[in-house]
Amino acid sequence: MKSVKKAIIPAAGLGTRFLPATKAMPKEMLPIVDKPTIQYIVEEAIHSGIEDIIIVTGKGKRAIEDHFDHAFELEKNLYDTGKLDLLEKVQQSSNMVDIHYIRQKEPLGLGHAVWCARKFIGDEPFAVLLGDDIVESETPCIKQLMNVYEKTGASVIGVQPVPLEESHRYGMIDPMAQNGGLYEIKNLVEKPKRGQAPSNLAIMGRYILTPEIFSYLEKQERGAGGEIQLTDAIQKLSKTQKVFGYCFEGKRYDVGEKLGFILTTIEFALKNEELREPILEKLKQLIKQEERMV
Ligand code: UTP
Repeated sequence: MKSVKKAIIPAAGLGTRFLPATKAMPKEMLPIVDKPTIQYIVEEAIHSGIEDIIIVTGKGKRAIEDHFDHAFELEKNLYDTGKLDLLEKVQQSSNMVDIHYIRQKEPLGLGHAVWCARKFIGDEPFAVLLGDDIVESETPCIKQLMNVYEKTGASVIGVQPVPLEESHRYGMIDPMAQNGGLYEIKNLVEKPKRGQAPSNLAIMGRYILTPEIFSYLEKQERGAGGEIQLTDAIQKLSKTQKVFGYCFEGKRYDVGEKLGFILTTIEFALKNEELREPILEKLKQLIKQEERMV
């Protein structure tokens, strides 16, 4: 059995939920405190032992390539002015594993973005990580799924329970039997209508897929939101081979929409020694001010 060595990070979407910020800047470059969301994802892949990463980019996504490249002028300036701690931070992002890029010419959907990377993946199982979710866990989230793949040899999707009233925002799984957080999947639905979710287990932007998925993506028609959906292709895959959902351990931060992004920024900032006290102070003031107005 081949092991998982390659990862796809799709980053070619339009990021409409963050307009106008994302008109000229990729959503994946929006920072949580001082680190772009995509760097958290790349770091997770590296800490999981992934050797090659392909980022699917599109129009207006140059900043992502620049971020993971050297920035000679900036690095020289930081060196000359003795700002060595900052220099280290800047160099960290360019000294990461081998990152490759491929362009999705049109944002036709997540399934299409993954399909664009098929030649890079070849005939191997691979990981997919979406920047909409950052996961903090002892064992990196995608590594947990890789461990399940090592045991089952089957595709594995990271899932977590969500309140049923939020299920219309997610891909949801219809599980069969459960075994220690591992569910065999009977069916999957992308963004089910309210009240029609098959369970409370939502797909959370982490996947290990077998290469057979590409033949389904090739033929996949547009689904929810008029996009070629990865969930729909996995649903077809699940009819010919086993696909598992794994309820991974860890805290998931939803940074793909505004409220989640802001709350994550606050939580991460509170973990920062320098920022913690002044932020808490300001928050307390704001709460008092709001209470006075009620
Ligand atoms: P999202 O739906 O969250 O991203 O896709 P989006 O389309 O950019 O955002 P909104 O909904 O307009 O605000 C999940 C991931 O898949 C990528 C996105 O870049 C994001 O990281 N994606 C999506 C692609 O690479 N190509 C696509 O055609 C669609």
